[in-house]
Amino acid sequence: MRYEVVLPAAGSGKRMGAGQNKLFLNLADKPILVHTLLVFEQDANCTGIWLAVKDEERLFIQSLIENYNITKVKGLPTGGEERQHSVHSCIKEMKAVEVVLVHDAARPFITIPKITELAKVAYEKGAAIAGVRAKDTMKIVQNGLIKETIDRESLWMVQTPQAFRYDLLAEAEDVAEKVGFLGTDEAMLVERLGHDIHIVECSYENVKMTTQEDLIFGEAILEKHNFRKSL
Ligand code: CTP
Ligand code: MG
Repeated sequence: MRYEVVLPAAGSGKRMGAGQNKLFLNLADKPILVHTLLVFEQDANCTGIWLAVKDEERLFIQSLIENYNITKVKGLPTGGEERQHSVHSCIKEMKAVEVVLVHDAARPFITIPKITELAKVAYEKGAAIAGVRAKDTMKIVQNGLIKETIDRESLWMVQTPQAFRYDLLAEAEDVAEKVGFLGTDEAMLVERLGHDIHIVECSYENVKMTTQEDLIFGEAILEKHNFRKSL
């Protein structure tokens, strides 16, 4: 299934504490952002890439796009205060397509087979998001005291890509903007419309580069991939 992808890239990376947008930090030989862009560049089903960026970072990002021969970028609209606003700026600027994926630019280890699966389920059912099963026992804690243990069987940690029929996501974002609802992912906005969202089991390797130790995980994942390629 063909799709276009929205990559929010207009964050500040506060939790990484690098004093710059974390997407510009290198993992092995390339910036995190470039690793992510190359996945979609290499996926034949991806027909367009939209990047939400900060105005002051647009030129630098354009230079990365040129230097690494990324050919599919269709637009780099200005991101917003929150991630949701950044995604919305892309959705508003792009033309309607059948399926749109939203993927954190900070998740460089997404694989093409998983993207393909998500796009297919979104096309057939409307909405599909990546997630993994919770590994640890989860408890609700209030004021330092355990209130409740939640049944782990029903708990998932959700990731991106989150894939939707374009019309469904565009409507969900317009409604959220109108009523001033702020979600932490796209699925929350679509859930509010009462639409079913399917979960596609993904990989623990699809980690978001968020804090310093994620860079160590990231380097280890790349080393594992390179080791396999060399066999
Ligand atoms: N993002 C964005 N616009 C924002 C905030 C975040 O486009 N206003 C993007 C980030 O660039 C990142 C993705 O959304 O690719 C996921 O967000 P997150 O991991 O929270 O990144 P940051 O917001 O940059 O990091 P932090 O929350 O630690 O400041
Ligand atoms: Mg953030």
